[in-house]
Amino acid sequence: MQIQNSHDLSSSNTLQLRSQAERFVELYTPADLSTLLMNPDLKKLPWKILGGGSNLVLPSQIEGLVLKVSNLGRKLIHEDPDYWFVKAQAGEVWNDFVQWTLEEGYWGLENLSLIPGTVGAAPIQNIGAYGVEVKDTLWEVHALDLQTGEPRVFSNKECQFSYRDSYFKQEGAGRYLIWDVTFRLPKKNVLHLEYGDIRKEVERNNWPQDPRHVAQAVINIRQSKLPDPKVIGNAGSFFKNPIVSKELRDGLLSKHNDLVSFPYEDRYKLAAGWLIDRAGWKGKKLGPVGMYEKQALVLVNHGGATADDVWKLARQVSSDVHSQFGVEIEAEPIRW
Ligand code: EPU
Repeated sequence: MQIQNSHDLSSSNTLQLRSQAERFVELYTPADLSTLLMNPDLKKLPWKILGGGSNLVLPSQIEGLVLKVSNLGRKLIHEDPDYWFVKAQAGEVWNDFVQWTLEEGYWGLENLSLIPGTVGAAPIQNIGAYGVEVKDTLWEVHALDLQTGEPRVFSNKECQFSYRDSYFKQEGAGRYLIWDVTFRLPKKNVLHLEYGDIRKEVERNNWPQDPRHVAQAVINIRQSKLPDPKVIGNAGSFFKNPIVSKELRDGLLSKHNDLVSFPYEDRYKLAAGWLIDRAGWKGKKLGPVGMYEKQALVLVNHGGATADDVWKLARQVSSDVHSQFGVEIEAEPIRW
């Protein structure tokens, strides 16, 4: 384990923001964390945990120590007549893990294909797409306490998952480092084709309705709508879809009959992409950043942007959405 000074993180965040960490270290074993905790000079620095950098807005200078979780590995750890239990280390690239499960014949994660980021980051914001969320199949999380290095296991319930949220983004923020994640994948898989254009894409290609083809449909749809972060910096959806009361949704629907909304518990989830689009921001720029031309929910870096540019645009977009529709939209990426 090597601690580096002044480490460049510009290519370690998908928004491609220029950023330097004061100190940087990669962790491969839980013992690496214990070693760091024994060093009083390092212990007093602020610590930040980096996964795939796909849900972060980084400042140009990061004070303190950035820890990159680089442990790798994935395997079937247990099987019963109804489920496969599959464990992946936090440093695995999420999509590589998903495609590996499908190659091995374990199903259930196909709708989550091509989401950027690492396995360790997935539970933090309960990643989701096309009607499926990580919480649906997550069995348990093994984490390390960042104060003591002690291991702690979190059951699905203890992770307190909700839409793009979990214990690790709330009370647990900054307290634990996720080390590995176990999924319980049902052998009687139910395919989720109903969301978006998945069924259309499968039928258009005359593919059989099986998990690998659902994964391919998701990959095709994502590639057609979402910018590749290697080509144009972005952090996926920049805003969460707001959840509002029935009264507010009904009021908006009476004025805008094409409003996109879905029932969510006893409330309604509105499509933030639709709100931003109708507020006139689709394909529009502010300085070096803008809202993507094919999907208004995605904030893109056209080159050379800083965190300030990102937040300036985010504030402007959410203020325009608020004044036009009376709805608050909240940013999804984490601000360091
Ligand atoms: N829409 C517009 N204009 C736009 C964009 C969208 O009118 O510019 C409308 C669409 O026509 C559609 C609706 O808004 O009817 C919803 O759009 P879409 O189906 O593209 O999905 P989303 O709600 O924008 C969510 C997730 C995505 C996930 C997709 C597919 C959030 C914040 N985003 O997007 O997740 O891939 O559904 O399941 O929940 C991410 O979190 O980074 C992410 C990409």
